[in-house]
Amino acid sequence: MLVLLAGMAALMTVMQGCDQSKTDEVSVAGSATGTTKAPNFRGNTSNSSSETSTTTSVKDSNQMRADDFPFYQMGTIPGLQSDDSVLSKETYHRNLKQLDIEQLYLYIARLLTDSKAHWPADGPQDGDTPSYAGLFGRLAWHCAGTFRLVNDTNATGGCEGARQRYWPENEWRDNVNLDKARGLLGEVKHYFAGSISWADLITFAGTVGIKASGGPAKKFCFGRVDESDGKRSVELGVEGTNECNGDASCTSDAECKTYFRWPEQNETDHVRCNLSQADGRLQASHSVGLIYVYPEGPELKSTHPAYNPKLVHNRYPKLSALEVRDTFKTRMGWTDRETVALIGGGHTLGRVHGNCDLQGTKWASKPYNGEGPYFEAAPGSLRGPTDGTCGAGSEAGLGRNTVSSGFEGPWTRTPSRWNYDFFAPMLDEEWEPTKSPFGNDQWRTKNRSSLFANTQRLTSDLGIASDDIYRAVATDYAKDHAKFDSDFADAWFKLVHRSADHPHQDDLEKDVGICTEFEFLN
Ligand code: HEM
Repeated sequence: MLVLLAGMAALMTVMQGCDQSKTDEVSVAGSATGTTKAPNFRGNTSNSSSETSTTTSVKDSNQMRADDFPFYQMGTIPGLQSDDSVLSKETYHRNLKQLDIEQLYLYIARLLTDSKAHWPADGPQDGDTPSYAGLFGRLAWHCAGTFRLVNDTNATGGCEGARQRYWPENEWRDNVNLDKARGLLGEVKHYFAGSISWADLITFAGTVGIKASGGPAKKFCFGRVDESDGKRSVELGVEGTNECNGDASCTSDAECKTYFRWPEQNETDHVRCNLSQADGRLQASHSVGLIYVYPEGPELKSTHPAYNPKLVHNRYPKLSALEVRDTFKTRMGWTDRETVALIGGGHTLGRVHGNCDLQGTKWASKPYNGEGPYFEAAPGSLRGPTDGTCGAGSEAGLGRNTVSSGFEGPWTRTPSRWNYDFFAPMLDEEWEPTKSPFGNDQWRTKNRSSLFANTQRLTSDLGIASDDIYRAVATDYAKDHAKFDSDFADAWFKLVHRSADHPHQDDLEKDVGICTEFEFLN
């Protein structure tokens, strides 16, 4: 049974540096008050006076619609609470023997295209059919992508434990709107109950999303045991926004304590985190919320020969490629080939969300946009456009009005259906700097009549085309689709199977031995 909000006195004490008395203020209607120092998505740190509403009505137009998700509470545990319903390893592994894998696959495959009014599936806004495949893919990637290779034998993070349901992971900026994905999967969890753990469900749902959309998946093994709280993720970083607002004693280590800028980088551009943080914290090459890579990439100095003042931005893909390698190779243990396969395959389905122009609205200024739409774990946090600020009426903040990262558009012409649009156009087209409606720096085809004119690339994507080693792999994949499919399926398998307790990709199979090669689809 979930430990419920009412039991505030029983809140866990894992919160570091946070005045415990402050946690009494957590409320479903949102009650944060005071001043907090939080970095926005561009990496700047702003002292923003946060929202002062303490009596927000549940039906306010900018209220997160948590109440519309029938099983939302199962997927996201509020505050610092724990979930004492998780099963022991022995019980779960015994239950797994009864799991009907085909039925689970079919249930998720049906859910993928069953667009819900409270969180409409993407696709139609890009001329495709509704699908949650992209959303579930990102969910699985962000859950598994916390994996860090500490040295050759020790690892930490990964999806086993499903700590994304809890603080601190559920309030990292990078995970914005993944509470909705877990909310949608709550119905599957409710139906299959103790026969499937959250960690298996999240990784399997991402895999089903790829497979059922026509993409490659070779094998999947079950057995990831859930944890009852998120404290093992504290070493990856804490943003502290939901629980620490307004309390001077609350600390957030979102910013990197030891950092650098590239010599070619603009001195006012956001900084990069050194591999070893002063406090021993493990994270990626940017601040905590962005545990992977900063998608906008570094902005060039105006004195750099490649700098062009006429462009709307001067983000530099070549430098971004170095950040991709730093995160994927050095911190996560991926080869360059696996990195290209993963990013290309990951960014074949789905889209980025930021089709929301806040200019001229009250949301453009602090505290709303000052904190960005990136923190979503507290229902009714009133933190900006994700909570219904964009769009009007019943569509506010939903579907085409969704803002997650602030970038906008699909990578491919069929974001709900597996395709080979990621590499070839990236290599063949000329890409020019542009801005999303939300104001983020991204790229579009220079030829505005191109077949790919409605697709976008992030600077980090273009890093693959700008780096000699990555480019050679991308060229190979653009020509050989079977090779790309096979390499992506292998890399995806490794992604969702490595975790701290099972650091090698075959550990779970050896330990539990319950796998499927999707033979029931033949
Ligand atoms: C350089 C590394 C990467 C960066 C900077 C990056 C960045 C992003 C950003 C900014 C979004 C938009 C989120 C939103 O607005 O909804 C996104 C979406 C997505 N990413 Fe990545 N990503 C990276 C690597 C990956 C990898 C390795 C995978 C999977 C293997 C992946 C899978 C996805 C998927 C499926 C989506 C679509 C989400 C949806 O449709 O709702 N990404 N990524």
